[in-house]
Amino acid sequence: MRLLMLGPPGAGKGTQAKRLADRYGASHVASGDLLRAAVAQGTDLGRQASEYMDRGEYVPDELMISFILDHLADNEISDFILDGFPRTLAQAEALDAALAKNGLELEVVISLDVADAEIVERISGRRVCTGCGRTYHVSVDPPSSEGVCDACGAALEQRTDDKPETVKHRLEVYRQGTAPVVSHYRSSGLLVDVDGVGELEEVTKRIDEVVEEAIG
Ligand code: AP5
Repeated sequence: MRLLMLGPPGAGKGTQAKRLADRYGASHVASGDLLRAAVAQGTDLGRQASEYMDRGEYVPDELMISFILDHLADNEISDFILDGFPRTLAQAEALDAALAKNGLELEVVISLDVADAEIVERISGRRVCTGCGRTYHVSVDPPSSEGVCDACGAALEQRTDDKPETVKHRLEVYRQGTAPVVSHYRSSGLLVDVDGVGELEEVTKRIDEVVEEAIG
């Protein structure tokens, strides 16, 4: 499976991409998770990326493209669910070229959409595990024990870029910066719009139907 998951911050890309990865045995490659790991490890890229991430802006293409394409190549990943990359037209073109060079192509691009008001509510309730990175929501998808990860027992915290003023800016950056990526994959016939509003299971079912149709 080679699938892209597009959508604004808080649309549920990470939540749904993890479910798909478990179901289809593909790698979940989340650009935001990889960047946060680089920041936590204090790598050069992490240091450069963190100032953009904290402001809710995109990390420049020249850093992002090699970071993600090298990750795919170094780990020999050819079946993937890419979550959060590409986000600009330059990133999309670089990904398309890298796949073509290896005789591969994308099977489907899902654009998950949710209205801005709901996004702000979702993000304000999001909690992320400091150990394994699993995502929860305080009311929609809470852990069994408050503040503690069900999967690894580590503490949960709020992301530093989940402050309301940063979220508003991230939404503007997404709507402007990623619109050309949506158009690019729409015109190539790969893009399917999926309504991201509803119970988690309901959204998963909609995505499964699209994936089944695309990969048979
Ligand atoms: P990234 O980590 O990718 O953040 P994002 O795109 O803003 O997306 P989020 O992780 O906020 O949301 P999500 O859609 O995954 O939602 P989730 O499943 O968690 O990127 C962070 C930063 O890194 C960027 O701002 C940028 O600086 C940089 N970056 C990353 N990639 C880059 C790139 N390619 N180029 C340049 N810069 C890049 O769900 C959200 C919450 O809602 C959770 O609490 C969840 O439990 C809940 N939820 C999920 N589904 C539902 C539902 N159906 N109903 C109710 N609640 C739900």
